[in-house]
Parts: sequence; C-alpha cells; structure tokens
Amino acid sequence: MSDDALVIFTPSGKRGRFAKGTPVLTAARQLGVDLDSVCGGRGICSKCQVAPAFGSFPKHGVTVADDALSPWNAVEQRYDDKRGLKPGRRLGCQAQIEGDVVIDVPAESQVHRQVVRKAASARSIVMDPATRLYYVEVQEPDMHDPSGDLQRLSEALKRQWQIEGLRAAPPLLRRLQPILRKGKWAVTVAVHHPHDGRAPQLLDLWPGFDDSPLYGLAIDLGSTTIAAHLCDLGNGEVVASAGIMNPQIRFGEDLMSRVSYAMMNPGGDAEMTDAVREALNTLTQEIAAEAKVDPDRIMESVFVCNPVMHHLLLGIDPVELGQAPFALATSDAVSLPAREIALTAMNDSAQVYVLPCIAGHVGADAAAVALSEEPHKSEDLVLMVDVGTNAEILLGDKTKVLACSSPTGPAFEGAQISAGQRAAPGAIERVQIDPATKTPRFRIIGSDLWSDADGFDAAVESLGISGICGSGIIEAVAEMRMAGLLDPSGLIGSAEQTGSDRMIPDGRTHSYVLHDGRDQGGPLITVTQSDIRAIQLAKSALYAGARLLMDELGVDTVDRVVLAGAFGAHISPKHAMVLGMIPDAPLDRVTSAGNAAGTGARIALCNRASRVEIEQVVSRIHKVETAIEPRFQEHFIAANAIPHATAPFPHLQQAVTLPDVAFGASGGGGAGGGGRRRRRR
Ligand code: FES
Repeated sequence: MSDDALVIFTPSGKRGRFAKGTPVLTAARQLGVDLDSVCGGRGICSKCQVAPAFGSFPKHGVTVADDALSPWNAVEQRYDDKRGLKPGRRLGCQAQIEGDVVIDVPAESQVHRQVVRKAASARSIVMDPATRLYYVEVQEPDMHDPSGDLQRLSEALKRQWQIEGLRAAPPLLRRLQPILRKGKWAVTVAVHHPHDGRAPQLLDLWPGFDDSPLYGLAIDLGSTTIAAHLCDLGNGEVVASAGIMNPQIRFGEDLMSRVSYAMMNPGGDAEMTDAVREALNTLTQEIAAEAKVDPDRIMESVFVCNPVMHHLLLGIDPVELGQAPFALATSDAVSLPAREIALTAMNDSAQVYVLPCIAGHVGADAAAVALSEEPHKSEDLVLMVDVGTNAEILLGDKTKVLACSSPTGPAFEGAQISAGQRAAPGAIERVQIDPATKTPRFRIIGSDLWSDADGFDAAVESLGISGICGSGIIEAVAEMRMAGLLDPSGLIGSAEQTGSDRMIPDGRTHSYVLHDGRDQGGPLITVTQSDIRAIQLAKSALYAGARLLMDELGVDTVDRVVLAGAFGAHISPKHAMVLGMIPDAPLDRVTSAGNAAGTGARIALCNRASRVEIEQVVSRIHKVETAIEPRFQEHFIAANAIPHATAPFPHLQQAVTLPDVAFGASGGGGAGGGGRRRRRR
C-alpha cells in the first residue's frame, strides 16, 4: 500500500487517501465534502476553516499525530493577525495533509449548511443560494492573443471555478473594464446560477477580494399587506423584516374588487401594477436602511402571492381571473430580471423568482405553503388551510395532494363583523365564557392580562379596548356555543332562554354583550346575530372546501390539520373545531405553521434546488375548482350548523360537551344561513 495518508472528514464521514502535501481543501473537493471557499484557495476569504482533531479515534480506526498537518503558515498567521481565527482552526486551503487525520468541517464552513427554523415544526433550510460570490484572477489582455475582457473573465471562471458559459447583460459590460483594471485583474464576481438549466449569469463585480455578504428578499405579497424578509444569502440569517400596507387597497379592499376595478377602468390594471411596484421599491429601501445594507448587495427577490397579485406584479391584466374558467396567463414559475418589472431599489442586475401558481384561485402563496410544510412528503393524511379572505386548502400525503380555494370572505379577518377590526393593539383576540355565569373574560392585543385579572384596567388604559379581531370573533362564537348561548343552528338565545342579562334585544334578534365600555367613553362591544351569520358563512365555505377535497380523495377523516397564515397562527384549534371550521381531528394534531407562505419564500430564496422541487410538486397537485362543483353547495349548507348538521365530530365530543339547546321558538334569525347570499369570489 502507498504511504498516502488517510483523511476522514466529519460530520460527513467521507474518507479517502491522499498523497502527503495535498491541501485539505483539495482533499475535501475530491471527496465531495461540503467545504466553502470564495477565494479559490488563495488564503484570503477564510471560508475554508477546518478543525483538525488529534489523538486516538478508535471509531475511525486512526490515531492522529500532532504533525498530521503541515505547520501553521504565514498566510494563516496573516489572517489570524488581521481578523482572528478561532483556537484550533486552520485554513483548509493552507494546511496540507502529512499523515492520517480527522478533520471536522464546522457548520459555518459548509456551503450547504442547515439553517434551523425557529418555528415549532422546525424544518431546516439547506443553504444553496442561486447567487454566489467568486474571487477570480483574470489574465491581462495581450495584443498577440486578442480576446475580450469578458471572455478572459469567463475563461478564468471556467478554469478556477468550473463555471462554464457565463452570460453578462450589456449594462454590466460598461463597468467590466474599469473594475478589472482597478482590481489589477483580480475581481470578486457575483454569479447567478439559474435552477432551470440556463447558463450562469454575471450579476455584478467588485475590484479585488470582496466578501461582504450578498442579500436576498423573500416577499409575501398579500392583498392587504406586503411582508419582506431580508436574508443573508451566505448563511440564511434574516437580517431585517418589514411590512407595509398594499397601496392597491385604494382600488378595492379585496381581490375581486381589484379585478372589477381593472374591468371597469381602462388602464386600471397598469395603475395597480405601478402602485404595488412603487410600494415594493419603498419597502426595499426601508428594509435595506434598517439593516444598514447597501441595496446594491441585494441580488435576488423571491415572491409568493395569490394569483391576482401575481398578475398585477408582473404587469398582466387580471380580468381573466375574475370570471370562469379563471385562466391564469401562466401557472409556471417566473424568473426574470428585477428591472423588467421596475424593481429598481436593489442591484441593477438583481433577479426575481416568482413561485408557480397552482390554479386560477390557488396561488404561489399556496405553493409556498406546500414548499414549507411538505404535504407531498407526509406519511399521514394532512389538511392544510391558509386562512385569509380566500382560504387556500391543500389535502394529501406522499401519494397525492389536492388543492382548492374557498371564498371565505373577510369575516375571519374581523371585517363584516359589527365590532370587528384588524388585528391591532386594543383588539379583543381571546375570549372565554363561564358556562355557569355566562360572564366573559378576554384578552386584547398588546396585553398579556385577562380582563378579570388584577391590574387589567391600568394595563390597557393607554391601548383602549377598541373592537374584536378575527381570532377573537372565532373564540367568542365558539365560546357562546359551549356556554349554551348559541344553538346549533346559530341562533343567539334571549335573556330569558339563557338566563343571562348579557343577552340584549337587537331588532328581532339578540346580541351578546362582550364588553361595555360606554361609561368610560369606550364602545359597546357585542356579538350580534349578523356577526354569527357572517362567521357561519365563512366557516361553512372553509369546511365545504376541505370536505370537497376529502370527497375527491374518498376519505371521511384526516389525520392532522395544519393552520397556516399569520391569522392561522392565532386560531385556537379547539375553538376552530367547535365552530366546525375544520373537519374533526384529534385536537393535539391540529397545529399552526405560522406564516408558512413566508417561510416557503425564504426556502426558495436560500435553496436553489427547492425551486425545482416546488415546480415539480405543483405540477403534480390535483386542482379542484369549488365554483363549478355542485357538491360544494351541499357541503356548504350542511356546514352551516355549529359545528355541523350531519358530520360526527368524535374527537371534539371527547374534549368538549356542547349543550343541547334550541332557540328557534323565539323567532328571528332563521336557521338556514341568514338572508344574505353567500358572496362568491
Ligand atoms: S479558500 Fe479562501 S482562505 Fe482558504
């Protein structure tokens, strides 16, 4: 056997024999060990740091001598003097193998390091950004061997980094020559590697070695708010998050009113497109300023959004989405330069990626939920609900995934509710009603105290109790049902029927007094019969959508339920089930995924392969159109009762006893869904 040395890398466990004198970085590359480098082994970037281990390693069958690596050299000393190396660390490009050795690659030296999400359902993101930095030394021009500067840069990238076929947009060529000369033919380049097989593209370059981080934006473009996370493309860290209201609200509160605006007003779509792009530029400037990041270092932007926002962002008239058969201009993912859609507040060459849409009413935001929560990999049958003005619903497991959207309307967000408001400080967000006394207690956003706790009044004095938000109204209605104040048909009982003077007459119906602040100049906050009807309509639509997907799959139960969306994060599983918003499931298997769409955007930003994955997954998702499905109406009507007219809720019954009350004799209300017609899209 040769006297080659055995090298074992941890944590990968990859091992191989190498001639003495081989740099650790070279060995790592040959074995496919994930060891980072920006400078290509020139001892400048320090990305290649490794931690050699010495002594006896019975597990690996080696003993590592103190001189298993070449001595600490001048390059490492210079780096240590300038920036400091952690004790025990070596630069992988400088340290050479001299004997059998075990070498640990710390997480921060791995290109594809895992970034663990903070959410409960911690799924890690493997870093594999589409845009990366490379340091290259380019050959100087030579009259005897004439070639362009771009061609020599391209040649250098091929030779030094195995990057072939570099493209560069003309505007960048203007800067190429001065920067190459300023850097004395050494430059750091940002290269974008498209996930779809297109040639790599030069996005920017800087003279000499420049390892300042590159950034990307993950943007959840909602119809009401736009939320952005600015992420370091090196380590996935979110360096700043910010949100602004979507200025398109002035053209219509909900999506369909915006589509109507585009239908009724020639050029209306372009107006809305301009408004949202302008807002995105403002948001980009603000978030970069907050994080003290040079906007020129923002190289990418990933968007998740519903189909209407998708079209308006891209400058496509959304009118077709307002009428059957709800055809999208394209359902494929879209990759394009940011400047093509007038996003000018980031690097001039920045790239945009918009996730694919699933169907005319199931957008890239639902695709992002799928990317984040992975129903297509689930062993058990999971129902995922992203609750908003339209609920987007996914049902499936690793064998098949179905999707639909359901027109819940804005009641879950506090709209169409008499005392409803957006989730903001002062809004009642949690409610409990004592079943014996029928007395409520509640919590408002901005304070952790329940309303019957000592110090509550003082704590909320500056906030004020202003109204009730989406999660608050869901809890209030469910609590009223559990306390026997509301019968299964959704009728509110009178004071006589319930024995509570909190029930006050309201025309021919009754309302429940949740909070009376009139003595202090505040509002009277009640839950009215029409509030109940609005919630019944919304929850029936949600349930009917889920049930339709279950029919399609031929199942009567689901194993677990995931509530997604900022609002989903605040819904209590028990209350959602008492209301019959979601099908029966074990209560401990109803979880919240928080802002799963935003997480999906971050995953697509940080991991190039995930773009390929979600495009494939979306192409396999089976779409169900609720608008043309007659059974939707049947399910909708049956779901009007609280929790449901016919479906058994065995898990719910185990956890909660619902009083057997009926208030129909008092008149008013009616039990069939109220006089209001259900709003369709
Ligand atoms: S590879 Fe850059 S310092 Fe080692």
